[in-house]
Amino acid sequence: MTSLPAPNTVPLRGGPTLRWGVLAPGGIANQWVGTTHANTDQRVVAVASRTLSRAEEFAARHGIDTAYGSYEQLVADPAVQAVYIAAPHSEHRALALLAIAAGKHVLIEKPIAVSVAEAEEIVTAARAAGVFAMEAMWTRFLPQTSIVEQLLARGDLGEVLRVTGDFSAKFDFDPTSRAFDPALGGGALLDLGVYPVWFAHFVLGAPRSVTATGSLASTGVDAQSALILDYASAAQSVITTSMILRTPIAATISGTAGRIEFPDEFIGPSSFSLTVGEERTEWTEPTGFRWGEGLCYQAVAVAQHVADGLTESPLHTLDDTLEIMTVLESARKQLGAL
Ligand SMILES: NC(=O)c1ccc[n+]([C@@H]2O[C@H](COP(=O)([O-])OP(=O)(O)OC[C@H]3O[C@@H](n4cnc5c(N)ncnc54)[C@H](OP(=O)(O)O)[C@@H]3O)[C@@H](O)[C@H]2O)c1
Repeated sequence: MTSLPAPNTVPLRGGPTLRWGVLAPGGIANQWVGTTHANTDQRVVAVASRTLSRAEEFAARHGIDTAYGSYEQLVADPAVQAVYIAAPHSEHRALALLAIAAGKHVLIEKPIAVSVAEAEEIVTAARAAGVFAMEAMWTRFLPQTSIVEQLLARGDLGEVLRVTGDFSAKFDFDPTSRAFDPALGGGALLDLGVYPVWFAHFVLGAPRSVTATGSLASTGVDAQSALILDYASAAQSVITTSMILRTPIAATISGTAGRIEFPDEFIGPSSFSLTVGEERTEWTEPTGFRWGEGLCYQAVAVAQHVADGLTESPLHTLDDTLEIMTVLESARKQLGAL
């Protein structure tokens, strides 16, 4: 059996902390605050909704001191050091610029924005302001990813020639939902495909070319697609995403000496196998966290980065985010998605 390295993730407790503010108390904000409060020393001190009563209800549920009825009020709160932006993608640019202008560090839900141009605006503003900024690509901060990173660096797989990744989910059709409404940044690629595109980028970097094929929903957003990414080396990635069917959400990395296989739900805390030659080694996810509970890892990583004086995460830089957004944008254009 091949010996596997230990994950070198930031410890969930005992490290530096930030006082967080949350913009937009929707579904993911609820999960993020729940697991971050339950499993780390980070504390959310304020929440803002466009509707005060929603912020008050969220604050009461999570033991948050202050509730605001506008996003502007929260970013003006001197008690808040870092802002977690959890609105639909279409709102990320405006809210990130608002928080950055107020001098706050920002953790922006994926995708960072709906276009390369919007993402560049955020990146430029954050770098000019000298605040910490990161897209909330939480899978990058999970223990499994730390181990895969070390295996790749160790060369266990030889030369990596293929990465595959899928993230699909079945959303009920609602033309006004953020999944299907083009005005809210709808479509599978931005919402789900961003993960396997990140995974391929994490392993192989930016591709030389993107070829996409797929279908649109009746609202004009992309419903399902397959992408082939080609690299300057002989490597290829095959990415699939859909919001009209369920799949195992699997991912693989294959090289000349071995392969890594995530059989299901690789986005969240998950187990994988390493096969080198005929020898197969299983790594079992040790935390027992289910899916969104793993969101807490990125919060402690941000706090550690800020304490270290960084303005970007070396694990998921702003340039990484721009390169991933470039792939998504190219694919969306090829599909003719709105
Ligand atoms: N990391 C993950 O695993 C994960 C999972 C799901 C979603 N996400 C990301 O998180 C973001 C939010 O997704 P969600 O599922 O949490 O959405 P959601 O449940 O619809 O919540 C979004 C919140 O944004 C606020 N908002 C601001 N402007 C809005 C607008 N024009 N239309 C609708 N709502 C608006 C609303 O709160 P108020 O009106 O109260 O301010 C709403 O509750 C998306 O970018 C998505 O990609 C990440």
